[in-house]
Amino acid sequence: MMILDPIAPKPARDSRVTLAVITEPGQTNPFGTLHGGVLLRLADECGAIAALRHSGRGRITTAAIDSMTFLGPVYVGERVELEAVVTYVGRTSIETRIEIHAEPIEAADRRLVAVGYALYVALDESGERTRAVPGLVLETEAEREAAESGKTRQELRLIRRDQARGQANPRRPGEPTD
Ligand SMILES: CC(C)(COP(=O)(O)OP(=O)(O)OC[C@H]1O[C@@H](n2cnc3c(N)ncnc32)[C@H](O)[C@@H]1OP(=O)(O)O)[C@@H](O)C(=O)NCCC(=O)NCCS
Repeated sequence: MMILDPIAPKPARDSRVTLAVITEPGQTNPFGTLHGGVLLRLADECGAIAALRHSGRGRITTAAIDSMTFLGPVYVGERVELEAVVTYVGRTSIETRIEIHAEPIEAADRRLVAVGYALYVALDESGERTRAVPGLVLETEAEREAAESGKTRQELRLIRRDQARGQANPRRPGEPTD
């Protein structure tokens, strides 16, 4: 009987995810363009599925979504396509790059509308402890460069996390304490 190693390294192509939706009127502002939050939610879902595929079991949680840059509006009724690819892996963390394209239903005119990164952390079945994930097999020069810059992005995230921990809003006078 062959026993599969649950943390044997995997290439990014094994966990790549695409997701396509048609935007609806309830997702837009009064000007008919999509709320950024709708795209962020879809991006998180798509990135999370790629991270889950890479981790292979257990749970994952979103630790950070950063540098999501919106390059142009998305209009109601357009087809939106998201693609998430694992770019960097730490001991228990998985970074995915998420690209979002939009195109009108009536024309094959696909355009890039947003790009960002999300960082997920693998948890055990109880959801209480972090868990080691498979390494990332880097197959191309582009993947090696993405992983190298992913390491730098991760260092910056940890700096931001440490800053955020020390930056709770001060209480106003008279505000009750917890
Ligand atoms: C993410 C979380 C599980 C990390 O727990 P923790 O006790 O800080 O764990 P550790 O310090 O051991 O870090 C575990 C890994 O996560 C990474 N990490 C932790 N916080 C991070 C952050 N804010 N940004 C990026 N990476 C982070 C660490 O670098 C480490 O990676 P590595 O093992 O690959 O080196 C915890 O902060 C958490 O539960 N956050 C809330 C997540 C959540 O609820 N998301 C949904 C929002 S509604």
